[in-house]
Amino acid sequence: MSYNLLKGKRGIITGVLNEQSIAWQVAKRAVEEGAEVLLTNTPMAIRFGTINQLAATINSPVVAADATSVSDLEHLVDTAMEHFGGQLDFVLHSIGMSPNIRKGIGYEALNYDFYAKTLDISAMSYHKLLQTLYKKDALSKGASVVALSYIAGDRAMRGYGDMADAKAMLQSITRNFGIIFAQEKGVRVNTVSQSPTMTTAGQGIEGMTEMIDTIDRISPLGNASATDCADYVITLFSDLTRKITMQTLYSDGGYSSVLPIS
Ligand SMILES: NC(=O)c1ccc[n+]([C@@H]2O[C@H](COP(=O)([O-])OP(=O)(O)OC[C@H]3O[C@@H](n4cnc5c(N)ncnc54)[C@H](O)[C@@H]3O)[C@@H](O)[C@H]2O)c1
Repeated sequence: MSYNLLKGKRGIITGVLNEQSIAWQVAKRAVEEGAEVLLTNTPMAIRFGTINQLAATINSPVVAADATSVSDLEHLVDTAMEHFGGQLDFVLHSIGMSPNIRKGIGYEALNYDFYAKTLDISAMSYHKLLQTLYKKDALSKGASVVALSYIAGDRAMRGYGDMADAKAMLQSITRNFGIIFAQEKGVRVNTVSQSPTMTTAGQGIEGMTEMIDTIDRISPLGNASATDCADYVITLFSDLTRKITMQTLYSDGGYSSVLPIS
């Protein structure tokens, strides 16, 4: 059902790899709510994923950009502003990857080159994106930027490895760039902490299927799906949440507020 919440708004959605991607659902819902979007991902993800299928159905351009490269991000933001003919109203950061997790390396044995990559791809890229948007004055007054986080950024959870540190950093960037964007540009910056979700990134976590089941049982409303997350992000892009900024907001069926013994 559409409420026209984003009528006339324009924005960038990162991180669409395939239909399982949370960003896929956000892009789809944004367009259903009246927005125009521009999709972006790495050249490799564009080649091997199905982003172009979504782009064709929602009539969106696709721009290649590695989010760890400031020059790629500058090109992305310039292209988006040119395409839309002005400033942007929303941006989704939906990017995460840990070479340590991919190679099954635990937190007690981190490879430090991989660790630096994890932090660069999954957290510093958010700062780079925000800094590029800031320098280019690319966001309209009242615009909204959202990044996706996970509860392991707040609480210790074995198995989430160095991604936990990346998520803690992502949430800190949300606050520290958020205050600058709020005071100087009237722009909101938030982080949505989502339930575990079976996506390509999610599948990399050891024991993901059991973890999803366990957390689903503990969460009073059950796990939030990718579409639940997308619905929530749409409200944050909309004008209905004008005064919400610098927050980590939970799309998790209540999980973050209960003790597992409840
Ligand atoms: N799946 C979960 O359980 C879960 C839970 C909470 C938060 N999140 C977060 O949601 C976000 C999206 O992940 P997802 O679960 O939809 O998985 P996904 O694998 O579909 O998305 C991850 C995306 O990151 C992109 N990416 C990786 N390196 C990049 C780079 N250098 N530059 C640009 N893009 C790059 C990938 O191409 C991919 O599209 C991530 O931040 C993830 O940590 C996921």
